[in-house]
Amino acid sequence: MGLSLRVEGVSLWLDRLSQKKLLQEIHLDLMTGELSVMVGANGSGKSLLLQVLTGLHRPQEGRVLLGGVPFPRAYKSLGQGVGIVTQNPRTQILGQTVEEDILLSLEILGLDRATQKFECEKLLRWAGLVDHHKQDPATLSGGELRRLSLASVLAMKPEFILLDEPFNGLDYPGVQDLLRILIDLKSQGKGILAVTHHLDQILALADRLLVIGQGRVVADGLPSRVLPHVEDHGVRRPPGKIEEMSWLA
Ligand SMILES: Nc1ncnc2c1ncn2[C@@H]1O[C@H](COP(=O)(O)OP(=O)(O)OP(=O)(O)O)[C@@H](O)[C@H]1O
Ligand SMILES: [Mg+2]
Repeated sequence: MGLSLRVEGVSLWLDRLSQKKLLQEIHLDLMTGELSVMVGANGSGKSLLLQVLTGLHRPQEGRVLLGGVPFPRAYKSLGQGVGIVTQNPRTQILGQTVEEDILLSLEILGLDRATQKFECEKLLRWAGLVDHHKQDPATLSGGELRRLSLASVLAMKPEFILLDEPFNGLDYPGVQDLLRILIDLKSQGKGILAVTHHLDQILALADRLLVIGQGRVVADGLPSRVLPHVEDHGVRRPPGKIEEMSWLA
């Protein structure tokens, strides 16, 4: 049975004086086992919406439910249930070393020391960071840092993984590696939502395409249905067939 991550009538504004809504009456239903791609112009509210989905922002109106249970009761702690790799992963690193950053995430699960060590080594290998395990995360390259933040997010075993512009700064093999990881996570039944400006890298792998415009969900559906409308909302429509829109193709 799949698990849903549901947004019900969420509106968010930060400046109470102007009452300008940054998110407006958002309704959304994400499912585990589904890979969704989200696009939208700069400042349209994508990152804010991801933050609402992880509980980093509490909306003034509406609610978020994980498996039917309203936030925050559904979560034992932030990062469980729904994990996020933010647009600037540097800001979410807590450890003094690569290894410590992953261990801090594992601690949240309350595992014993030996299991933590075992899981940490597994994640270091998975992220290709074994040789960097004692390194200060501040000195990692951009691609290494993205892999570390993803490893630390996965350490908490979330059901949903949200990625904010995950391909930024990645080289061609780096993008391909990440796409393989996303396919693997989907096959494990995780729900994935990736925000990007570059549909040509990933759309062929997506089950669903969401378009955000001025704080609203302006389109949501099968990529073939939604793609013809993206250019109305500040998103480039790549040339060619959807099946070819993947850097793994
Ligand atoms: N703390 C804040 N205070 C005031 N305004 C904010 C705050 N956080 C976000 N905003 C505004 O909300 C709007 C949506 O921001 P958001 O970061 O979600 O955009 P985005 O769609 O992710 O854009 P991009 O593609 O550039 O990353 C922007 O106009 C932004 O300036
Ligand atoms: Mg953003």
